[in-house]
Order: sequence, then structure tokens, then C-alpha cells
Amino acid sequence: MLNAAVVGLGWWGKQIVTSLADSTEISVRNGVDVDLDSVRGFADLHGIELGDSYDELLADDAIDAVILVTPHAVHEEQVLAAAAAGKQIFCEKPFALSIESALRMLEACDKAGLGIVGIGHERRFEPALEAMKTHLDAGDFGTLIHIECNWSHNNFTKASTSASTWRKDSKQAPLGTLTALGVHITDYFQSMAGPVASLRATTTQRSDLFPGNDVVVVQFGFESGVTGFMCNIATTPFHSTIKVFGDNGWGEARENSNVDISEPATLTTRWLDEELTIQTYQPQNVVRANLDQWAAAAQGRGDYRFTRDQLLHNVEILQAIVASAESGDEVSVR
Ligand SMILES: NC(=O)c1ccc[n+]([C@@H]2O[C@H](COP(=O)([O-])OP(=O)(O)OC[C@H]3O[C@@H](n4cnc5c(N)ncnc54)[C@H](O)[C@@H]3O)[C@@H](O)[C@H]2O)c1
Repeated sequence: MLNAAVVGLGWWGKQIVTSLADSTEISVRNGVDVDLDSVRGFADLHGIELGDSYDELLADDAIDAVILVTPHAVHEEQVLAAAAAGKQIFCEKPFALSIESALRMLEACDKAGLGIVGIGHERRFEPALEAMKTHLDAGDFGTLIHIECNWSHNNFTKASTSASTWRKDSKQAPLGTLTALGVHITDYFQSMAGPVASLRATTTQRSDLFPGNDVVVVQFGFESGVTGFMCNIATTPFHSTIKVFGDNGWGEARENSNVDISEPATLTTRWLDEELTIQTYQPQNVVRANLDQWAAAAQGRGDYRFTRDQLLHNVEILQAIVASAESGDEVSVR
């Protein structure tokens, strides 16, 4: 069991604490936030010892691990400090906003002997997406040809969701919902089709409900020769479809659950015999599944689903999307 502290008890930090209530791998005893007044009630309710000093937390020998759920721009300094203090680290996504930053973070983790670094891409644990990956690994799709996705939500424009101001700052969170949704997709894509060689991104503002560009579309060329496509819209209700096409069949995963929406997912497949199958998957606590697997692996039990290289490559893809959207050019990723 890891004694962990959640750093940043905002929207997602609270989700993580709640998700870990039944964890047998992680006990959340402490929380740190710079805005104590806004999180005290939640911390009291969940029996979490609260503080506003990250340095004091890192000096506490009773804390084994930090779970960093702070705005993206804060991740680097907090990972560097945690690595220097010898804590296990789980960092929310995106791991970093630039390759240079990600390399500094990973080098600090290497220096501290941290073989496993947790990352908040829990979507890889969604049962329908796991099932699609199982089909791929079993060769059911035949030669993988193309992969595409539209993953969108309007959580940051809804009156009921008070999105933090940094979410709408293009420096801290570029291109609409790219760092909220798109990075989950690029992570899933690389787990399916391998590294991205080059990409071309475009972005535009279609709805003035979001104070910046609300649409980003990306065309991918993977090193494997597979092609890909992704669209994220920041101003339409939740939608998630991921499609995988091969010369032996195709699969379409439709996720209908998103944080406060709990509805079953489906995986539709069609093979060469033209038979259509639709499998339904009940919502699972994928946040806990990811964190538990990280915690077990960090304690030497089992593997973690994300490699160090994939952590870095997903940041390379993010940086390339931003560069391509700015220049309008196709950009090499590696
Ligand atoms: N894995 C997922 O599906 C998922 C979903 C949502 C958010 N996230 C990630 O979680 C992170 C936080 O997102 P959010 O929506 O919860 O943001 P938020 O603004 O709601 O919460 C951030 C919290 O961090 C606190 N904070 C800011 N600077 C801090 C510092 N230096 N030290 C300690 N606390 C600090 C803020 O006071 C706030 O309470 C982001 O990186 C985001 O991408 C991941």
C-alpha cells in the first residue's frame, strides 16, 4: 500500500480521491492545494490532512508518493521536486507541454531511480478500448490500415461546470480541448499504431461559446505506415468514437461515459463475413484501475501499461500538433 498525497484538489483531484476510496493499493492521507479555503470542506469529508506547503509534504517520510493533479504548467517543477525527494510520482496529463520539459522531468526521475512514472491516461483502461486493443494484438483486424477518432465535450463552456481560467488560456492549455481530450487519443493511438512520424493540424473557432479556437483536427502519418485522423470540439456535448480499420475487419468503440455521465460503452465490429457484432461494456472505475496498476508496479508487482518512451512521445506529438496548427505546415514528430 502506498501512502500518497494528492497535490491539487480541484475538479480532477477530487475525482481521484473519490475514485481511490476502495483502493487496496493507495491510501490518500494528505492533500496539498494553494487555495485551502476552496478545498477544506472536501478534505474534511474524506479525512484528508490538508496543507498548502508542497515542500513540507515532500519532507514528510510517511508519504511514499505524490499524485500531481495541478494545472499543466506546474507539473514540471512538482515532478522535479518530488524526484529529488525520492517520492513515487503519478502525474496528470499532459505530462509536459514541451519536449524539453518532459526530458528534464524524465531525467530527474531516472536519476532518482524511478523506473515507473504514473500518467493520467486512464482511457486506455476503458473496457471497449481494451477490447479493441485485444482484437488488434490478436491480429483480428488483419493489416492495420487507418485509425480515427472524434472526441469532444463542452464541459468547459457549460454553466454548471466552472472551468478554471487556466483552461481557457492558450499558453497554459493550447488549442481548445487538445490537452483535455486530444492527448488521451494520441496516447491511445500510439498504443495501437506505434510512433507518429509526421502530422498536420488545423484549428479554428466556430462557436463563440469558447474564448478561443474550439476545433482542432489532425491528420497523422505513423512510422508503421498507418494513417490517422483526430477531431476535438470544445463546444459540442460529449461524444467519443474511435474507429480502427484493417483488411480483415473494422472496430468502432463508442464511449458514452464521461466523468459525471455514466452510460455503457459499445464496441461494434464487422469482419470479412460481413457479420456485425455489438458488444456492450458497463462503466468501470478506470481512474482507479490506472492508479492501482501504477502503484503495484511502483512497488515491484507487475508491469505498468505506459512506457517511459510513450510518456515522452505523447509530449512530442502534442508539441508537433501545436506547431503545425500555428504554421499550417506538416510537421515531423520524430
Ligand atoms: N486524466 C483525466 O482524465 C483528467 C481529467 C481532468 C483533469 N486532468 C488533469 O488534472 C490537472 C488539473 O486539472 P483540473 O481540472 O482539476 O484543474 P483545477 O483548476 O480544477 O484544479 C487544479 C487545482 O490545483 C491547485 N493548484 C494550482 N497550483 C498549485 C500548486 N502550485 N500547488 C498545489 N496546488 C495547486 C488549484 O488551487 C486547484 O485546486 C490538469 O493537468 C488536467 O489536465 C486529467
